[in-house]
Amino acid sequence: MSEYIIETRNLRKVYDTNDSKVAALNGIEMKVKRGETVGVMGVSGSGKSTLLHVLGTLDRPTEGDVIYDGEEIFARTDQELAYFRNRELGFVFQFHYLLPEFSALENVLMPGLIGGMERREMEESAVGMLERVGLGARLSHRPGELSGGEQQRVAIARACVLRPRVILADEPTGNLDQDTGSSIMDLFLQLNEEYGITIVLVSHDVTIAVRLDRRIRLLDGKIIDEN
Ligand SMILES: Nc1ncnc2c1ncn2[C@@H]1O[C@H](COP(=O)(O)OP(=O)(O)O)[C@@H](O)[C@H]1O
Ligand SMILES: [Mg+2]
Repeated sequence: MSEYIIETRNLRKVYDTNDSKVAALNGIEMKVKRGETVGVMGVSGSGKSTLLHVLGTLDRPTEGDVIYDGEEIFARTDQELAYFRNRELGFVFQFHYLLPEFSALENVLMPGLIGGMERREMEESAVGMLERVGLGARLSHRPGELSGGEQQRVAIARACVLRPRVILADEPTGNLDQDTGSSIMDLFLQLNEEYGITIVLVSHDVTIAVRLDRRIRLLDGKIIDEN
């Protein structure tokens, strides 16, 4: 087992649009230890979301490697990457992307169903996960019937239901008021302690980022500060 669950080597991502090229990542070298919580900070446009997408294998880098537990992950095919994402990674975004027509429980069942499990195999862990995030009494509510903080709790339950090794969160409190955001951070840190899930979390909010073990700061696709 590698000491680091995630390592990147000279990670570069260039967006090639019609008339311009944007180097969104410009040689990122980072290492994340198993069980660590790491904040990614930086002004708008500095490359935070791009970094999270590439770490999450949602997008291939233009150059460089992402190494999970010693394995160069982009050596895998797209289909193998989809399986890896489903089993090993959990995603939480600023906007929850819950399916509006489905209940909280059904949304949390979804990763398992997509991964080929039967509903009855999944149900106990999905209910347990919703209880864990404080929504045991909201199983049959649809997202539109829940508050912003509750919706984000459902999204976190969905991200954690298959017990991923890593959670990647992009501005998960960006759409919430301070107190609600703070309680969402409590939840992330509890899940990190209880399950040992490694967390990489993007936030430009210092009061959020100081609660993590460590922070990196990006500017123009480069790491300009680590502490
Ligand atoms: N799909 C895309 N196509 C072209 N340019 C993009 C795309 N996504 C992001 N960019 C550009 O890449 C840079 C970094 O963007 P992003 O990673 O979203 O930054 P952040 O999340 O820190 O605000 C910005 O200049 C942005 O305009
Ligand atoms: Mg962003």
